Amino acid sequence: MTSTDLAALRPRLPSPLQEIEDDRFTRRGVRLSLKRDDLIHPDLVGNKWRKLAPNLTAAAGRTLLTFGGAYSNHLRATAAAGRLLGLPTVGVVRGDELADRPLNPSLARCVSDGMRLAFVDRSTYRRKNEPSALLAILRAAGAEDAYVVPEGGSNALAVQGCRALGEELRGRADVVAVACGTGGTFAGLAAGLGAGQRALGIPVLKGGFLTADIEGLQREAFGGRRGEWALDDRFHFGGYARTTPQLDAFTEDFEGRHGVGVERLYVAKLLYGLVALVEEGAFKPGSRVTAVITGAPYDG
Ligand SMILES: Cc1ncc(COP(=O)(O)O)c(C=O)c1O
Repeated sequence: MTSTDLAALRPRLPSPLQEIEDDRFTRRGVRLSLKRDDLIHPDLVGNKWRKLAPNLTAAAGRTLLTFGGAYSNHLRATAAAGRLLGLPTVGVVRGDELADRPLNPSLARCVSDGMRLAFVDRSTYRRKNEPSALLAILRAAGAEDAYVVPEGGSNALAVQGCRALGEELRGRADVVAVACGTGGTFAGLAAGLGAGQRALGIPVLKGGFLTADIEGLQREAFGGRRGEWALDDRFHFGGYARTTPQLDAFTEDFEGRHGVGVERLYVAKLLYGLVALVEEGAFKPGSRVTAVITGAPYDG
């Protein structure tokens, strides 16, 4: 796989920056823009392109093996990349009980894109970053020679790939906000921003462990902490994939106001957090706030 093969997929880069009128922001003198990473590529949407592209090049045609839950956006994107680039892919899926059940639409899509699935029990899956557990997983999947990408796709190359997101926004925003799962996208974004810009991360998982993880990712990718950044841990709504009627209503209202589809697991919580923050007066009048649209709604 070369960068020429990837360029042939014609990613829309830099992704568009779209200013929108939202009275909750304009009332406070704050300008809101959407960084439309969801428009980069129809199959490798949003942060998936930025994270996978450098890994696809590094895999150099070897089988690419990665990990995810039964509804993982990352597994679907990896499978799609395999189909588009003619690269074999293996998806290690959390939960061996799923092996005997009909595939959900997300996993069925992975299979139709050519991904081979290997179901792993939850306790082994939890230990997948330990070398001995990883080796056992690779052996059981018949993929000892595979190029391994971690769950969520956040390794040093992926974080370096996400630095371009920050670089594209230099001079164009004061605060750039992104939803965080593993924190890899955010770690790269924060490193790519210029002087005077700050990155704001909205974790969608409960736990409060992410600051240390992001520092670790930045150390691995860049040799140390980079950029001005902070997390706001108040908008996870109880944890991954958890929602409330209030969040659902907010998201539908946002879609109606602005005519953009809002991805529910990450982007909805980011936008909710930004509206709550602007209403608290957290952004100075005159400031430019950018929300990174890291994904598109999954249409099944
Ligand atoms: C749509 C979307 N936004 C944001 C993220 C968070 O990315 P990261 O794991 O790099 O924090 C993900 C995770 O894969 C995602 O699917």
